[in-house]
Amino acid sequence: MTQSPETRFRTSQLEENDGPSVNPTDNRTMGEIIAARFSRRGFLKGSLAVSAIAATVSPLALVAADEARATEGSAFKFDELEAGIDDKHHVAPGYDADVLLRWGDPLFADSPEFDPVKQSAEAQARQFGYNNDYVGYIPIDGSAEHGLLVVNHEYTNPHLMFPGIVKIVEKDGKKAAELAPLSKKQVDVEMAAHGGTIVEIRKEGGKWQVVRDGKLNRRIMSTTEMALSGPVAGHDRVKTNADPSGTKVIGTLNNCAGGVTPWGTYVMAEENIHGYFSGELPEGHKEAANYKRLGIPEGAYEWGAHYDRFDLAKEPNEPNRFGWIVEVDVNDPNSVPRKRTAMGRFKHEGAESIVARDGRVVFYLGDDERFDYVYKFVTAGKFNPNDLAANMNLLDDGTLHVAKFAEDGSVEWMPIVFGQGPLTAENGFAGQADVLIETRRAADLLGATKMDRPEDIQPNAGNGKVYVMLTNNSKRKSDQVDAANPRAENVFGHIIEIVEDGGDFAATKGKWEVLLKCGDPSVADVGATFSTATTANGWFGMPDNCAVDSAGRLWVATDGQGPKATGRTDGLWAVDTEGAARATSKLFFRVPIGAEMCGPLFAPDDQTAFVAVQHPGDGGEDWEAFGRPSYYEDLSTRWPDFKPDMPVRPSVVAITKQGGGKIAV
Ligand code: FEO
Ligand code: CA
Ligand code: CA
Repeated sequence: MTQSPETRFRTSQLEENDGPSVNPTDNRTMGEIIAARFSRRGFLKGSLAVSAIAATVSPLALVAADEARATEGSAFKFDELEAGIDDKHHVAPGYDADVLLRWGDPLFADSPEFDPVKQSAEAQARQFGYNNDYVGYIPIDGSAEHGLLVVNHEYTNPHLMFPGIVKIVEKDGKKAAELAPLSKKQVDVEMAAHGGTIVEIRKEGGKWQVVRDGKLNRRIMSTTEMALSGPVAGHDRVKTNADPSGTKVIGTLNNCAGGVTPWGTYVMAEENIHGYFSGELPEGHKEAANYKRLGIPEGAYEWGAHYDRFDLAKEPNEPNRFGWIVEVDVNDPNSVPRKRTAMGRFKHEGAESIVARDGRVVFYLGDDERFDYVYKFVTAGKFNPNDLAANMNLLDDGTLHVAKFAEDGSVEWMPIVFGQGPLTAENGFAGQADVLIETRRAADLLGATKMDRPEDIQPNAGNGKVYVMLTNNSKRKSDQVDAANPRAENVFGHIIEIVEDGGDFAATKGKWEVLLKCGDPSVADVGATFSTATTANGWFGMPDNCAVDSAGRLWVATDGQGPKATGRTDGLWAVDTEGAARATSKLFFRVPIGAEMCGPLFAPDDQTAFVAVQHPGDGGEDWEAFGRPSYYEDLSTRWPDFKPDMPVRPSVVAITKQGGGKIAV
């Protein structure tokens, strides 16, 4: 069967990728509550504030004063890059942006060299995977110049990977692209191109090199055996024909962002798992509502045609084995990755963590779907910095919480615990395993706040704050607006800042405010709130991944910009969060057209920023200069720099300052 390009061309415009909004509850949105209680008061307050300012100071004087303050106070010192669109990556003047790893690069002494016309699963299993997203660094012997780079490979773009599978057809007088179904051999390549890479890297003469025979180098794939651990392990709902024990899962899927734990393990978030499943559940199957809440099956991949476990008719419980956080012990290349079920099951975006004051470890977790939730997991046990091995099962026991953002600027972290509140047998939960398998439904019942697609969430040890990237939600209607999601048709996204009570990351209450509403601030209707010191290059839309460097400064990567959305490619922006410069943003790096910006990550000495360029060259139909869909063969003619035998390749880029030194100081 030929699938439509709409399904098979998974572009950076995640409006199409991340599934429908599937939150079915009619929990009253904060907007409805505010509308009922505060609308008149809010209106009066707003208009009074404006007229008070207008009466005393001219707007131009305000702008000038604001600019002076913001420039003085900025934590970032670099000459801003110009925003734009072309087929290259660009970095701010005075910096080098060197490709470190590309899809297909050999990782082992015996790896074959990349040959895109002779791809095989065996070769891909020994090479860097596709669509790099999360990037983490685990030092070797405490070094900032020698360590393990851990990289997630989120998904595959077959139209950019495989020669000859796109056919251009005439449809309604227009040219359109159709994808041929993938062969089993190509599906096997896709499965090997997913997952993650662990690879030793070393900086020599100021430049990073891959250590090709590093003894800890490893590929994690959609075919790697893993263990289910924690409360769901062995439960009936995760047993399959192939695994009657309910403890052994083959592979991991759609690893988007992730994290490195304080004890030096690599955690991978399983995000858009719905696309891999196809087929129909047996009539009246008990998992039907559970799967509907996650958009399963979407059938975007044809893996189910070749492997029973992706076909719901044959293995109806298999989807319950995905949608978890996976932990990998990188110090043993034969270790079995563990799916940590205590951390909940949803479309996990990332898993950045921090040690709380009392030694418990807190993980911030986003569920990336329109109207889904922000979570945090607090371990029951305490981190032992003197015996890293003692921490290896901390993630099996703890409390998952979901956030309720109140209109008064407070946030409550509600525990998701069987037997508490509505999480009882009356609502169909027989125990904590059920609650975790259906985390979204549990959070629905608790009345969590429906957010505008929670992506990466980053705690900042330096100032006790937490930054929440909310990438966009064009489906939010004006009567669904609330204080934490303040814009209807929020196409550009926003960033929320949380301060936990008492500066304690394990607290169950905190305060929050909107740090930034994104989009072009020169268009009044957009309602963006960048400082007036932000230049025409400095604003952005669609915040996605983010990082905090060791100086505590925030860096934001974007996904979904482009000619139509913002007139600029995705990139990495430096965002001031403190003092007079707060909400000032500056462009530091931008990707080639069609790509999204992932990573980012700072080396422990802040002398390198690692960024991940995902799916460069995708979505060609939106580019006026090219005016046709992108697919494998023709990319070489558009990018003379790329050899004629290969498409544009996803890559990890290492950014360093020319002559050395810390970035942006
Ligand atoms: Fe994979 Fe939510 O980005
Ligand atoms: Ca993301
Ligand atoms: Ca993304």
